[in-house]
Amino acid sequence: MQYTTNSLENQWMPFTGNRDFKQNPRLITKAEGVYLWDHNGNKLIDGSSSLFNVAAGHGRTEIAEAVHRQLMECDYTAPFQMGHPAAFELARKVTRHTPDEINHIFFCNSGSEAIDTSLKMVMAYHRANGDAQRTRFVSRERAYHGVNMGGVSLSGMVKNRETFSAVMPNIVHMRHTWLDGAENRYKWGQPENGADLAEDLQRAVDTYGGSTIAACYVEPVAGSTGCLVPPKGYLERLREICDANGILLVFDEVITGFGRLGTPFAAQAFGVTPDLMTLAKAITNGAQPMGAVAAKDDIYDVVTNAAPENAIEFFHGYTYSGHPCSCAAGIATMDIYENEGLLTSSADLLEHFQERMMSLSDIDMITDIRGMGLMGAFDITGDGAAMQKELFHQGIHVKFTGPSGIVAPPLVATKDHIDEIIDKLRAGMQRAAA
Ligand SMILES: Cc1ncc(COP(=O)(O)O)c(C=O)c1O
Repeated sequence: MQYTTNSLENQWMPFTGNRDFKQNPRLITKAEGVYLWDHNGNKLIDGSSSLFNVAAGHGRTEIAEAVHRQLMECDYTAPFQMGHPAAFELARKVTRHTPDEINHIFFCNSGSEAIDTSLKMVMAYHRANGDAQRTRFVSRERAYHGVNMGGVSLSGMVKNRETFSAVMPNIVHMRHTWLDGAENRYKWGQPENGADLAEDLQRAVDTYGGSTIAACYVEPVAGSTGCLVPPKGYLERLREICDANGILLVFDEVITGFGRLGTPFAAQAFGVTPDLMTLAKAITNGAQPMGAVAAKDDIYDVVTNAAPENAIEFFHGYTYSGHPCSCAAGIATMDIYENEGLLTSSADLLEHFQERMMSLSDIDMITDIRGMGLMGAFDITGDGAAMQKELFHQGIHVKFTGPSGIVAPPLVATKDHIDEIIDKLRAGMQRAAA
């Protein structure tokens, strides 16, 4: 163990019951491949790719060595009015996989920063087009768009918003796409019914006027809230309504990006191209903090061409935008994804994951299972947070949000790893129920 500590008191932990955790800590001190080890030496399988980010498995030496080399050669350089080659190279590598019209990447440090950056891009675009009256944003119930003020305003997860009253005004929430009712449960892939929920965007247009709406934000598959796969035709209809009304469509691909659905991005999985995509998580395989916004060429062109020659076009950026070490990690990560073909999973592996996830349906406390690609969720009747802790002690890490356990094996997982994840989930839930 590299670091020991005599006190847990001083760190105020994020999204954690601090008092509870400090009574019964769960510290991870080693990670390798698809496994984690806690401070007592217990081995856990990483059933959610940690937080959906460690897609190529832990401890990738290619990434570690690239970051080390970068630290020794040029640890940092300012990203404003000067630049580092690694940021340009990573942007080039990412755009090899984005949809054809999306070729411009703005770097930041997290998914939350990507969301807030994208909100400003939307505003800058409309302003440059003489359309600055578009001040309304449409989001969705059960949406998670990070924790910065813009993202919290868009958020449809009530707990993330209720304490913080001073959020952005003029946000309209569409209904979420998880349809209750027996006929919609235990369905893998895109549900047959529910495309009409996209008419909520049309209703916002009818109510407020299409020319007041700046953008519509959706996670193509709502991830953190428990893997809500969009009904067939739903995203296509959102695209149609956006096009008819000059509204930008933003896909928050922080989880779905980089192979999670079996394609490089959700945009390709669903055949719908957004105007902006927010990215983070697997962009560096979790080895360095990084986020990004990927923009359509038209958006970049309109914003940059609207400014006077030689002037700054977009008054936004972070000290650590395109940090050389994060970019080095990102480049090494893209190389791994390409060399190992991880951005497109085999149909065989995807089918195996689906079958094994659905095999949990006989467990009494489970009330629904759904998913797509290498991401699935199950809902339980009990307390999700308590179950997450219980499963940790049974040797598996799975992320829970409320009653939903979200399973997202690393993209390097084999069928045997998937079997181990499912077997441990079954055993853990049976033990908890006993
Ligand atoms: C869809 C989505 N957007 C944004 C975020 C925020 O990302 P970060 O935690 O890196 O700020 C997350 C994180 O889980 C996410 O799932």
